Amino acid sequence: MAMPEHVTIVDVGPRDGLQAEKEIVPTATKIALIDQLSKAGIPSVEAGAFVSPKWVPQMADTSEVLAGIQRHPGTRYPVLVPNARGLEGALASGVEEIAIFGAASETFSQKNINCSIDESLARFAPVAADALEAGMQVRGYISCVLGCPYEGEVAIEAVVRVARTLDEMGCYEISLGDTIGVGTPSRARAMIEAVAEAVPVDRIALHFHDTYGQALANILSCLEAGVATVDTAVAGLGGCPYAPGASGNVATEDVVYMLDGMGITTGVDLNAVVQTGAFISATLGRSPTSKAAQAIAAKSG
Ligand code: HMG
Ligand code: MG
Repeated sequence: MAMPEHVTIVDVGPRDGLQAEKEIVPTATKIALIDQLSKAGIPSVEAGAFVSPKWVPQMADTSEVLAGIQRHPGTRYPVLVPNARGLEGALASGVEEIAIFGAASETFSQKNINCSIDESLARFAPVAADALEAGMQVRGYISCVLGCPYEGEVAIEAVVRVARTLDEMGCYEISLGDTIGVGTPSRARAMIEAVAEAVPVDRIALHFHDTYGQALANILSCLEAGVATVDTAVAGLGGCPYAPGASGNVATEDVVYMLDGMGITTGVDLNAVVQTGAFISATLGRSPTSKAAQAIAAKSG
């Protein structure tokens, strides 16, 4: 399988990045972040989550965020939806794409969405059907595909089973989450190749957290297997409140720098993303974790 010529970047920073922040991020900051990302040419910007505000208070203002952004033609703004209640919120906000999110690990499923894997799949099926009926697109996430913070190793067969079920529900794409960033390239590649036997590789996305600094290497090994969609977060933001020890997603700046250098197109303006990363990092009172962003900022003085 040849390397893709083009890779689609899904920036999950406004959702995955900000959901884990201790201080509530103001709605206006979230709106500014999303608008800057869409102007930088990111084709899909995950804008929030219609989840229980008791579980994740950071995402409680998702409808206000969606009402405030400037919808950029050609940009998608998916949101997470865990249940029928979440779908109602998404429909009321004019959302065109939702993401349902399951896991390959039982304990993580319980901790994150308070039900077993099978219960979650039974809950997602009517949500996906209703969303498709309403003309939405549905993306499916699977967490803990390369390891679980509670159970340790996760069997590849468990990932494949959930991927197949989400595919049968009509998900146009399955995003495979290394939630705690423990994977290494050969294992990531083996997992992707196994999933690709159940779901065509052009409908698989990578969602790798960078806790152990392996994400870029893991992404490269999976691009070589034909994957052409990568979830990233500007400035390396990210984490999951129910995954202890998980750090940020792979930084958008690092991935775009790597792909630019390899001649793989993304349509993303690297300098604009570096500026966006500087903006959100300054607002949150820290430096971007991205090495590429640090180097580009140092060079431009
Ligand atoms: P539950 O407590 O079992 O559900 O939570 P419930 O139906 O009993 O509801 C509890 C309360 O929440 C009720 O309110 C509901 O009305 C309300 P009360 O009656 O007590 O006042 N509620 C809602 N409110 C607003 N929107 C909703 C909603 N649903 C219920 N949609 C539930 C089950 C799934 C709701 C909960 O566990 C939840 O919201 N979990 C979300 C956790 C989350 O967002 N985690 C982070 C995202 S996943 C992630 O980061 C991984 C990923 O990045 C990939 C990777 O890296 O691996 C995607
Ligand atoms: Mg994540």
